[in-house]
Amino acid sequence: MKSEMVLSQHWLIVTTSPLGLGCEDCHLMKLLYSIEDVRAFTQSARNRGLKIGFVPTMGFLHSGHLALMRLAGEWADVVVASLFVNPTQFGPNEDYDSYPRDVTGDLEKARSVGCDGVFLPDLKTMYPDGSVTHVSVGQLTGRLCGSSRPGHFDGVTTVVLKLLNIVESDIAVFGEKDYQQLAVIRQMVRDLNLAVTIIGHPIVREPDGLAMSSRNSYLSPTERTQARVLSTGLKKANVAWQNGLRDAASLRDLVQKKISDSNLARIDYVEVCDAESLAPIQGECVRSTLIAVAVFFGETRLIDNCLLDPQSQVS
Ligand code: PAF
Repeated sequence: MKSEMVLSQHWLIVTTSPLGLGCEDCHLMKLLYSIEDVRAFTQSARNRGLKIGFVPTMGFLHSGHLALMRLAGEWADVVVASLFVNPTQFGPNEDYDSYPRDVTGDLEKARSVGCDGVFLPDLKTMYPDGSVTHVSVGQLTGRLCGSSRPGHFDGVTTVVLKLLNIVESDIAVFGEKDYQQLAVIRQMVRDLNLAVTIIGHPIVREPDGLAMSSRNSYLSPTERTQARVLSTGLKKANVAWQNGLRDAASLRDLVQKKISDSNLARIDYVEVCDAESLAPIQGECVRSTLIAVAVFFGETRLIDNCLLDPQSQVS
């Protein structure tokens, strides 16, 4: 184990790295392995009157995650990210074991966007033997991904609540690609009176429109090319909405037809729903509306969405 200390402008940075990373790889960014490490780090920032921003991730960082970290840096003085592939949010036949991991690359990327601390807990740190408590948010979790992935959101809210309790940040940033996750976390924060402000970041897309996701790395070249039908389908519906289309079934059909252009796509769901309750809309969309999709390419399940404002219409 290598341990080094660096004095930078305002910070005494201690890097203790079982990964054997040299200090030049992680200067100005503290690697935090235990809950005590995180608490000491954030407490020291708080004592200096600094505001803390938090970005929880499962690692294998891409430009979408880095955008969340940059946004956290706009709201807060100190940014902490976490890298933890959370087993409790994966179903028994899902990709927990094969989920892509690249801790060294992640640390370099997080450092490059000015992250100040990265929490890298192991399984035992997050789920010590004997853990039996979980957090379950009602209603919202029964829909969309919640019905396709039973138990998924309980895993998400349990780990996110634990992380929020550990980091005790002023703000936490989540991506809007996982719209339902963001809605569920906001609900949990409201219901449990957590003293953290949740901030959403717009979906970050590849040049061809595909929403960025760590799971995109699973796609074969042909699947990757065809996967753009998710965003083109949503875009089509968005244009129709701007032109005044408000019938939920017609909006859904537009997206579904476009996705069906891909012979490799297997639709899990295409839903037109109320953006707040996530309840499916029958008939006219009169309030803020979400079109959410989940589509398999082979074993890879991709999600995307589009938020439609009832006021926005080209006159
Ligand atoms: O969005 C994710 O990457 C995960 O669901 C989260 C919020 C880090 C919890 O494990």
